[in-house]
Amino acid sequence: MANLAVFASGTGTNFCAIADRIATTAHQVVCLLGDVPDAPVLQRAAERGIPAHCISYRARPREDAELELLAHVNRYNTDLIALAGFMRLLTPQFLDAFSGQVINVHPSLLPRYPGIGAIEKSIESSDTELGITIHEVDYGLDTGPVLLQRSFDRNGGDSPAVLAERIHHLEHRWYPEVIIGLLDALPRKDS
Ligand code: GAR
Repeated sequence: MANLAVFASGTGTNFCAIADRIATTAHQVVCLLGDVPDAPVLQRAAERGIPAHCISYRARPREDAELELLAHVNRYNTDLIALAGFMRLLTPQFLDAFSGQVINVHPSLLPRYPGIGAIEKSIESSDTELGITIHEVDYGLDTGPVLLQRSFDRNGGDSPAVLAERIHHLEHRWYPEVIIGLLDALPRKDS
């Protein structure tokens, strides 16, 4: 059994997909860490009985907020961190201090459209193929080694809302599976 922490800033549909799928395994979502006080994801974690903490980035250096994040991560004996719509760049200080792996889901076929607004930029483009990327987090913005990409051929008649929904569907389908694969591959703690 391994311990997953999820970082999220928003609605939390990916968090829900992850938490509900992990609940069918021997692994555990040990905490949800957010940075937006009224983000729906905090409530969604509470509904699932998963400890949720909101760490403020306001009026202080982000390194201070990250020290708080790190304290939670360590307190919950976290093996893997999954960013799920966490709209903050983690500093090298944080990434070097955390002993496990950090991964992210991004709603485009990286290296296309890193950063915010990726879904809108994908949809507004003339790209015929849209999709998602799951990748390791490094010091850059959506630049780490790719673990998995999934895509679909855009149907010329699909509305932006349908295209966005298809992108989210890929995230919800594949991100939990990649996470479980990584958790399964961790050395057993009791051996
Ligand atoms: C997801 O589409 C995720 O890929 C994106 O934020 C959304 C969060 O939705 N993340 C990024 O753009 C990170 N660069 P959710 O809160 O419903 O899971």
